[in-house]
Amino acid sequence: MTRLAGKRAAVIGAGSVGPGWGNGKAMAVRFAREGARVLCVDRNLEAAQETAGLIADEGGVAEVLAVDVTAPEAGDAVSGAMERAWGGVDVLAYNVGISQTGGVLETSDADWARVFDINLGAAMRITRAVLPGMRSQGTGAFVYVSSLAAVYSAPYSYVSYEVSKAGLVRFARSVAHENAPHGVRSNVILPGVIETPHVNAFVDSETNPEDLARRRAAMVPMGRQGSAWDVANAALYLASDEAGFVTGVELRVDGGLTA
Ligand SMILES: NC(=O)c1ccc[n+]([C@@H]2O[C@H](COP(=O)([O-])OP(=O)(O)OC[C@H]3O[C@@H](n4cnc5c(N)ncnc54)[C@H](O)[C@@H]3O)[C@@H](O)[C@H]2O)c1
Repeated sequence: MTRLAGKRAAVIGAGSVGPGWGNGKAMAVRFAREGARVLCVDRNLEAAQETAGLIADEGGVAEVLAVDVTAPEAGDAVSGAMERAWGGVDVLAYNVGISQTGGVLETSDADWARVFDINLGAAMRITRAVLPGMRSQGTGAFVYVSSLAAVYSAPYSYVSYEVSKAGLVRFARSVAHENAPHGVRSNVILPGVIETPHVNAFVDSETNPEDLARRRAAMVPMGRQGSAWDVANAALYLASDEAGFVTGVELRVDGGLTA
């Protein structure tokens, strides 16, 4: 278990909005199991502490930072905490993302701006803060969590989510192109239908969870929803030196949904 030995990783959105395994929580634990020291960043201190506690219980090393990514100082807070804890950043995984249902006619300016700020603006803000350190050390890896919604239309509308996640895909490639000469890689994951607490947090109380899970699994050619571990395993590869010649890649984790 040494695929990230010696790496200093920050996982942004390392908690989970409900019981069980979210993508960020699984990613933080998976990274730590492979030898990374992990800063668990979340606006919810208790959620970040829970993830850090799971890592510590397994003998791993984790720190916690409570910050809302929409705060102008979020980037400096992350880079400052990493600098103080371990002297810099090797891996930055940006996992925070929110969904807002609604097509063009249902989406207000305020909703559009909020979704874009969290799904895309904050990724830019935090990237800008940690990039100088990665460039000066001549190595670093960004892993962004976008969504299949960037390229695939669901049976319902959530235009602000789709477009902001498409922007994140392009952003990851821009970061890759700009920083390849500096030894810094950037890749993006497009999770498909994944069973996480995040999904349940956005469905109404009338929806039967088992029914929803069955319908979601039926959409996937592999016949099952993905798990947070499927996303975490993809992130682990992209974060590790095994992906040392891989940058600007959009990795779909979708069980064949777009095959
Ligand atoms: N579950 C799916 O089917 C699916 C599919 C495609 C993409 N995704 C993407 O995966 C990511 C969600 O993964 P998850 O399961 O870890 O999500 P999650 O909703 O459980 O959130 C992870 C953490 O992010 C934190 N967070 C939310 N807003 C924040 C903010 N403004 N500042 C700081 N922290 C904040 C939450 O407190 C939570 O602990 C999102 O980017 C989502 O778009 C999920």
